[in-house]
Amino acid sequence: ITVQVNKPGAPIAKTMYGLFFEDINFAADGGLYPELVKNKSFETDEKLVGWKGINGAAALSTYTISSQQPISATNNHFLRLTATTASPDAGFTNEGFRGMGVKQDAEYTFSVYLRRGPGSVSGLNVTLEEPGRGNAGRTLGQAKITGLTNEWKKYTAVIKASGTAPRARLKLTMDGAGTLDIDVVSLFPKDTWQNRENGLRPDLVQLLKDMKPGFLRFPGGCIVEGRTLEERYQWKETIGDVASRKPLINRWNTEFKHKFTPDYYQSFGLGFFEYFQLSEDIGAEPLPILNVGMACQFNSAELAPITTASGPNAGNAAPGADLSLDTFIQDALDLVEFANGPTSSPWGAKRAAMGHPAPFNLKYIGVGNEQWGPQYLERYEPFAKALKAKYPDILIVSSAGPSPDGDNFVKASKRLGELKADFVDEHYYAKPDWFRNNVGRYDNYARTGPKIFAGEYAAQSVNTGSSENKNTWDCAISEAAFMTGLERNADVVRMASYAPLFAHVDAWQWTPDLIWFDNLKSYGTPNYYVQKMYATNAGTTMLPVQLPNNAKNGDANLFASAVADDKAGDIIVKLVNYSNDARPVKLNLAGAKKMGKTGKAIVLASNDLQAVNSLQEPMKLAPKEEQFKVSSATVSYTLAPNSFTVLRIPGK
Ligand code: AHR
Repeated sequence: ITVQVNKPGAPIAKTMYGLFFEDINFAADGGLYPELVKNKSFETDEKLVGWKGINGAAALSTYTISSQQPISATNNHFLRLTATTASPDAGFTNEGFRGMGVKQDAEYTFSVYLRRGPGSVSGLNVTLEEPGRGNAGRTLGQAKITGLTNEWKKYTAVIKASGTAPRARLKLTMDGAGTLDIDVVSLFPKDTWQNRENGLRPDLVQLLKDMKPGFLRFPGGCIVEGRTLEERYQWKETIGDVASRKPLINRWNTEFKHKFTPDYYQSFGLGFFEYFQLSEDIGAEPLPILNVGMACQFNSAELAPITTASGPNAGNAAPGADLSLDTFIQDALDLVEFANGPTSSPWGAKRAAMGHPAPFNLKYIGVGNEQWGPQYLERYEPFAKALKAKYPDILIVSSAGPSPDGDNFVKASKRLGELKADFVDEHYYAKPDWFRNNVGRYDNYARTGPKIFAGEYAAQSVNTGSSENKNTWDCAISEAAFMTGLERNADVVRMASYAPLFAHVDAWQWTPDLIWFDNLKSYGTPNYYVQKMYATNAGTTMLPVQLPNNAKNGDANLFASAVADDKAGDIIVKLVNYSNDARPVKLNLAGAKKMGKTGKAIVLASNDLQAVNSLQEPMKLAPKEEQFKVSSATVSYTLAPNSFTVLRIPGK
């Protein structure tokens, strides 16, 4: 294999390997966002999602959609608990998100808004417990709220857990008889990322940070689009006071209707401010994707009318709210101001009020998720024009619809090229062999058109949409092979991210996923380690690679790409051996000088292509490091069977 160190190519974009985040599979509520109480503001529906009356308490109580002075205009539902006689059963339990993960000796901040009504209610008993049979439970911690008044007031207490439990629940009962109004019930771990109030789950953020991601795309995915336009993701509803953020039914609620289907709402405790903050924390460029005036084309396919000088046309949005395209464009303009504007600007002031006066330095915006066809292009065009007119430096990521058939992509990228789009976002979910057979996908892609954002991809062990898909080594090694093609075309491929990112083992709608977790633990899949090996060895400059006898990448199941890391003074070669046999390779580092003596090999390998990681065996497949000797610009190394290997060779 020849690596032409003497013919360096384009710089590798700092954004090259990044993250795709979507609130699917309990990725936000129940995952990265560690609030333990489900439906804490009673804003879902009359079924009181997440809450259950204790014995007869449900019959004793009423759920009120109140016009009677709710705590805020957006949070205008609360639980009214009425008991005619005092009873230890006068109360409710909250199930959490497939239970509440509680750790021994850890502290949890309980908070609640209470208002006492008629009667003699003197307090609220708060119990964190592990459910047993019936209503019995092992108590893990308790608090008592007293000093109730006739006005809404926030109360807090800290509960220290006396034991560890993966599926605890929270029990609230009232002392005395009468009426008590309850709202915004929260149980939040004190142990959060950077110990922030309203902070994120630390083990999950750490897994992200360890990848050294170049960007963080958020908040999706299909949830950007919504099943209807009314149900789209609206970033303005996700900032400001957490207690006033109104939840929304999740686009992934009841999706696939299999046994893990949850009652799934977005609480927006993790909202746009927190996404920007997370991007900053993990050193990733923020990449928000916004609705382009189209609901999901696989659902209602509602369209926002395009407003022109001669009036609105071309739309079938539900009547009511102003759902003309102008609304969507204004949201995008305001978002740039929220992220980057001075604190004296209306939206910049909101960012500052949330604790971040410095700008977030937003550089990219995605316009539409996975949308295609003339309806997309006719909305994209005025959208992009308005954005560029006000913010010419913002780079726009445009959508191309689902691949891998390529048709949508080819059609869209032609027109998007004419419109001088900065990036086209391509998505592909396909079987592992598709990934190995498409390593050359961008070899002949136009060098002058929009750059590529491989925004969502993952090899599917069974079929796209199958709940039997697993994160097998076969999938991961095939992605590793495909990524040599992304890297060899890094002059046009500027961003890439695996999707989806997270999944709760007890509550998912889509598989495979990069990182799996339960309420206490988490692990990276083999696919995670592939992504991490690329991102942490991204290098700075492309180097051309030739396989023996000028074979094409993938011939004899050997795949390779190379980069220079100009800062570290290393040549980095990535090699995939998709075969059951070990394979000796000789690397000719053409033109390399100043060779060091010892190289480092990072190896991910398994003889079993069906091997997977799990909560029980989280590191069954994980990279191992070894050193090897380097004596000249010709380096010999033997690739393990079915392996992905990163060789870091000191030299220039
Ligand atoms: O990653 C899961 C879904 O796949 C995304 O929401 C959507 O963009 C794609 O269809």
